[in-house]
Amino acid sequence: MSLHGRDVVSIRDLSREEIVGVLDAARRMIPLAEGSRRSPVLAGKIVAMAFFEPSTRTRLSFESAVQRLGGGCLTIADAGGTSLRKGESLYDTIRMLSSYADAIVLRHPNEGAARLAARASDRPVLNAGDGAGQHPTQTLLDLATIRERFGTLAGLKVVLLGDLKYGRTVHSLAYALAEFGSEIIISSPEGLRLPEEHRDDLKRRGAKVREEPSIDRAIREADVLYVTRIQKERFPDESEYRAVAGSYRIDARLLSAAKPKMIVMHPLPRAGEIAPEVDATPHAAYFRQAFLAVPVRMALLAAVLGPARRGG
Ligand code: NCD
Repeated sequence: MSLHGRDVVSIRDLSREEIVGVLDAARRMIPLAEGSRRSPVLAGKIVAMAFFEPSTRTRLSFESAVQRLGGGCLTIADAGGTSLRKGESLYDTIRMLSSYADAIVLRHPNEGAARLAARASDRPVLNAGDGAGQHPTQTLLDLATIRERFGTLAGLKVVLLGDLKYGRTVHSLAYALAEFGSEIIISSPEGLRLPEEHRDDLKRRGAKVREEPSIDRAIREADVLYVTRIQKERFPDESEYRAVAGSYRIDARLLSAAKPKMIVMHPLPRAGEIAPEVDATPHAAYFRQAFLAVPVRMALLAAVLGPARRGG
């Protein structure tokens, strides 16, 4: 099936073949993302960036991707400047945006907001993060980073470390890793464990998932160490956050036990979970990961909005 005109709300909206297709196309987009070649694939297209939660990389890499492909953006970077402040519903905002743009990229604090937006819009909606729900385009670039380093997405041991309760990046990534046949090792402070529903669902799908509370042991085994930030903004109360704040930090000493080819990833922003000294080690992959956001989002936008392929 072609991605043309489709919504991407959850990573589960894409088949394995579709994911691989986006990753292959993203590889070809790298020179364009670097600015050394040009393409008019999105010429005349307008993409609305509707960001109702803070964002740096996601919004800017989407905007860069659209502009590198010759398209234009309409951007809401702050809910405070919009009619949502006057009580307008998300449904109305999205309906209106879908008459101004050819696609909508949405970030919203409420889980389920992207699904609602997809129903409200007759244009494709790409979920750029809905509360503690999903973040499928982040998963695509995470997979691109892993595949670039290891040449495969299968048979790897991937440690998901940190806030697995509220972290939407890991909620999305875990499903994709399971689909591609990598082993998932979850490691988190007690209060931030992966919710049962996710764990059960992964197991039902036959995923290899296990828990390893010791960071030391997890690091020794890992091919990929995927570190996340504690999602402070999602805690119902401050004392719950304080109980887990600063409970893990990856530094050069911890990494001395890692496999030589192990990579450290992080969706960023980091807030103390990875010591700056790690940047200079061969393990650090998070800045490459942030760069790959552009070619991956270019590939996705081109598939969703570009000229429809014959037979596709
Ligand atoms: C993440 C997010 O917004 O979920 N950031 C991102 O998109 N790169 C992770 C985070 O905020 O911790």
